[in-house]
Amino acid sequence: MKVILMSAVALCGSMLAPAAWSKEDPAAGEKLYSVHCVACHGASRAGVPPTFPALTDVSKRLDAAQIKEKIRKGGGLMPPFAQLSPQEIDDLAAYLAK
Ligand code: HEC
Repeated sequence: MKVILMSAVALCGSMLAPAAWSKEDPAAGEKLYSVHCVACHGASRAGVPPTFPALTDVSKRLDAAQIKEKIRKGGGLMPPFAQLSPQEIDDLAAYLAK
């Protein structure tokens, strides 16, 4: 079971994440998005370019590790979300990858 979980995590490209928590849950990520991210990036993830970038195709520009780094540390006008747990950040990244 653990082996399956770890290879699933590796397939998702998030090899930096230890498999200590349950797998990524895009539905949970969508809820977190509507609380923390919607104000700037918009309900349909279209953002308000160029100030607030659209996140609809962010997985084409950034890999999962870079997306998680951005959420954790912010940058530019984006505030850091260091209060989110690794699980929550994984869920958000899974939602954005959809
Ligand atoms: C206060 C407004 C604001 C909030 C809230 C916000 N962001 Fe951002 N976000 C930005 C801005 C502005 C940028 C562009 C930053 C830059 O130029 O580096 C950005 C960039 C990003 C990027 C990189 C996009 C790219 O194409 O490089 C990701 C991923 C992202 N945000 C995800 C999130 C997530 C997930 C949340 C919720 C946890 C969130 N953001 C909340 C303003 C915000």
